[in-house]
Amino acid sequence: MAKPQKRYVCQACGSVSHRWAGQCGDCAEWNTLVEEAGAVVTPFQAKHNLQSGGRTVQLVGLDADIALPDRMATGIAELDRALGGGFVQGSATLIGGDPGIGKSTLLLQAAARLASGAARRVAYVSGEEAADQVRLRARRLGLGNAPVQLAAATSTRDILTTLSIGPAPDLLVIDSIQTMHSDLIEGAPGTVSQVRASAQELIRFAKERGTALVLVGHVTKDGSIAGPRVLEHMVDTVLAFEGERSHQYRILRAIKNRFGGTDEIGVFSMQSEGLSEVANPSALFLTHRDEGVTGATVFPALEGTRPVLVEIQALTVRLASGATPRRAVVGWDSGRLAMILAVLEARCGLSFSSAEVYLNVAGGYRVQDPAADLAVAAALVSALSERPVPVDAVAFGEIALSGEIRPVAHAALRLKEAGKLGFERALVPTAMAKEESALTLSGFRTLTQFVDHMLGR
Ligand code: TYD
Ligand code: MG
Repeated sequence: MAKPQKRYVCQACGSVSHRWAGQCGDCAEWNTLVEEAGAVVTPFQAKHNLQSGGRTVQLVGLDADIALPDRMATGIAELDRALGGGFVQGSATLIGGDPGIGKSTLLLQAAARLASGAARRVAYVSGEEAADQVRLRARRLGLGNAPVQLAAATSTRDILTTLSIGPAPDLLVIDSIQTMHSDLIEGAPGTVSQVRASAQELIRFAKERGTALVLVGHVTKDGSIAGPRVLEHMVDTVLAFEGERSHQYRILRAIKNRFGGTDEIGVFSMQSEGLSEVANPSALFLTHRDEGVTGATVFPALEGTRPVLVEIQALTVRLASGATPRRAVVGWDSGRLAMILAVLEARCGLSFSSAEVYLNVAGGYRVQDPAADLAVAAALVSALSERPVPVDAVAFGEIALSGEIRPVAHAALRLKEAGKLGFERALVPTAMAKEESALTLSGFRTLTQFVDHMLGR
């Protein structure tokens, strides 16, 4: 018989190797390999007799009848939207986010809504806070009377034993999976093997009993869910709760969803009485004013299929010659800013080389869409020339290195949202100037044309 092979699991990335080493070969972290009990059977060691032993499985066609999963809408529209219509029974959802971003608050609110509004059985298990702390928070949120079953526990065996008595809960919240401990396996809570084993037990319970399971996951400095990527593979849905702690808005984004799309987001704002839904996100990010200021442009961004109007602000400061000018960016890609500045210099004859350039997306919002190029260029040209962009205009379009302005996706959605918020003009790529729209569209083929238009040349 083959000697059981030792197996070492990296506690940072979860990769498995058969020899101990000081540094993980996959993620290059030091001192993260830990021996795990249990031999692994590699496909080479396992010799199946193909004719015997297994049972036959049923094969069906793709067109066979489908049993649609049961969904529980929480009544919090922004959460339901991100989930694709509500929590699916018998499914597992992982929600990740920075500490203090509002994961516990959101789930407590969702739990309370399901328990009191929809009369569902809801269990909330906190491994991070004492029951009193959770109750205190619930009371502060005005949810003190919701019939949520609350427990402070960290042992998955205890939790599952308790929940196996009587009817299973419709929703089970585990806050957080990193605090859970399974006695089936050695190791401290939070290690990859513990997180994986605890999640496995909880997910098995959820699938067997038709419970919708929600696991809260901590996020590491680099933004991935702490420890295991494996966790993301084990669950059906992965949600990320994002935002700047210093700003009030939060975005709930589906990263993976076996039961729905991943292009919907939920927008919330953190208030003193908990998270409130933001049905009209554009209003959150726009600063209202009646007169144009220099260096500010409104950009109709898209979050999935949802338009969000944001203000892009630029400031240029002339420097005495000699000093190296600064470029600072908040909320946008600095490489992309360098590119736009280069195109403005090389193709349009504007010089930023002796000016410091600051670019900011208002409200703490992060823009990733290349369609913002034209709005950024407009803000930069406006800041440099001290001519305001008209207050009733929005701008979007991608800028190529050649100076061409290229069409972008979802122009109609962007224009519609801008129209809804009272904008009357849009500066767009030529190819999109023929779009049906209530706005007056000005099309530009090249950045040179656009700059000439802005400077009245
Ligand atoms: P929390 O839900 O505990 O975050 P997480 O579980 O993601 O770590 O949220 C904590 C933060 O939210 C805390 O800094 C205070 C703030 N907060 C409010 O502003 N208003 C509220 O009503 C609540 C409950 C929290
Ligand atoms: Mg928490």
